[in-house]
Parts: sequence; structure tokens; C-alpha cells
Amino acid sequence: MTHAPQQRIQVVAHRGASEDAPEHTLAAYKKAIEDGADALECDVRLTADGHLVCVHDRRVNRTSNGRGAVSALELADLAALDFGSWKDPEEGPDWASSSSTPSADTSVLTLERLLELVADAGRPVELAIETKHPTRWAGQVEERLLHLLKRFGLDAPAPDEPSPVRVMSFSARSLARVREASPTLPTVYLMQFVSPRHREGRLPKGVGIAGPSMRIVRNHPAYVEKLVRAGHGVHVWTVNEPEDVDLCVRLGVDAIITNRPAAVLRRLDRG
Ligand code: G3P
Ligand code: CA
Repeated sequence: MTHAPQQRIQVVAHRGASEDAPEHTLAAYKKAIEDGADALECDVRLTADGHLVCVHDRRVNRTSNGRGAVSALELADLAALDFGSWKDPEEGPDWASSSSTPSADTSVLTLERLLELVADAGRPVELAIETKHPTRWAGQVEERLLHLLKRFGLDAPAPDEPSPVRVMSFSARSLARVREASPTLPTVYLMQFVSPRHREGRLPKGVGIAGPSMRIVRNHPAYVEKLVRAGHGVHVWTVNEPEDVDLCVRLGVDAIITNRPAAVLRRLDRG
């Protein structure tokens, strides 16, 4: 499967504008929309009571004032935690003063709330949703995800039309599950390393978009060129340095996933 090339490089805010605001919070996504990001990246996990929440790590320890695995906590437990105060107080007064009580902008973010934010953005903003640890849940993450997307009318984009949502994963199996249920939803295969199979420019069956790390792009630019020539979309993560942005532009990638959307847009003369 190939993918129509983008007219211009898409700037995707990784976990929101996560350099400026605490990652995966409403504050970070609002900032990314204000900054002019074309799309928002988020990781999703299932809570013990079956809600999809935007959290990167398996545990909440690093990014909140609580402890424990997301999968062992219910949404109500997570809602009592502050996902903002871990960020350096010098960096952002809005969240730095948070006590143990989270504000609406720093409490746990459900995927549903993020979809509402995007729907109300006032301009087109795409969403790149990454399924985390999907094998552990034997299809439940994908099932819940597609159910939620259906409620927002986003699960079955018209073929050959740009889709406002795409699903990303390091797990080819997770992407296959998504395509089985929703064949027109674009999928992105994330790669941390280049295996011999990848080197030939092949992606898992049915996947149209490659998601190589910036490290792959720096170390194997010829491989990235091969993907581009083959007509695959190429979405690179995490691109924060100006020289890396320039390399992505030279190689003709489609999307740059960054913690610094405002700086990348400036580098692309769009800021
Ligand atoms: O956008 C892909 C990238 O987010 C994958 O790595 O660990 O930041 O989820 P990670
Ligand atoms: Ca991610």
C-alpha cells in the first residue's frame, strides 16, 4: 500500500507542546493548537475500568503525583492525580502552582476529551494516536479506540481522502487489528531500529506509513529516501533540533513529530 505525498511537511506536536507544558495534558495540547501545529500525537492506555487515557509510561510515577500502573487504576483514581506539577516550576506558572488538586488543564486526559478539543479547535487539526502495550490487552485497546472514533465519526474515512486520524504503533499486530476493523484508517508503523527486512523498504502488509526514529533518519538516510521513493508516507519522531528538521526536509519526509512545534514551524518559515 502506498500513500499520497503531503503537500507540505506536517508538524505534529509530540505529547502536545510537551517542551513548554506537561506532556499529555490539556495544557500541552491547547498550547500546540495555539502554536499552529497541524496535528497532535498522543499515546493511549487502558485503565482498569476500560477508559482510554493519554499517558506514555506504564506507570503514572514520572508524570503525576501518584504511583502505580495505569492498567491497575480506575479513571476516578487517575482523576484525583495532578499531571502538571512534576514539570519544573520555572517553566510554566500555570501548572507550577498546582497543589495536590489538579486543574482541568492538568488532570488526567481521556482520549475522549482530546477528541472534543480537536473537534472544537476552530481549524483542522489531525490526531496521531499511538497504541501502547497493545498485546497485553489482546485487542481491547484497538476495540475501545475504534468504538470511540466511531462516536466521533472518525473511524471510517473515505478511501483516498485525507483522514483526520491515524493510528500508530510499534506493534504490527496492533495495526493489523485496526485495519481489519477499519480498513481505510491510515496506520503508521513505528521503528526504533532498522532490521534487514526494513532495509529493503518493506513495511508490514497493509501499512502505508513508516514512522522511523530521528536516529534512523540520521544513520540511514538512504533507507528513508527509499521509503519516500516507494511512495510510503514517512513520519519521523522525535525531531527537536534545527539541523534534524533540515535533514527531514531534504529527505522529503511527510511529517515531523516534535516536542517543540512552535520552533519547528519557525524553522520551516511557517511560524
Ligand atoms: O511518535 C512516535 C513516538 O512517540 C514513539 O516513541 O516512546 O515517545 O511513544 P514514544
Ligand atoms: Ca508516542
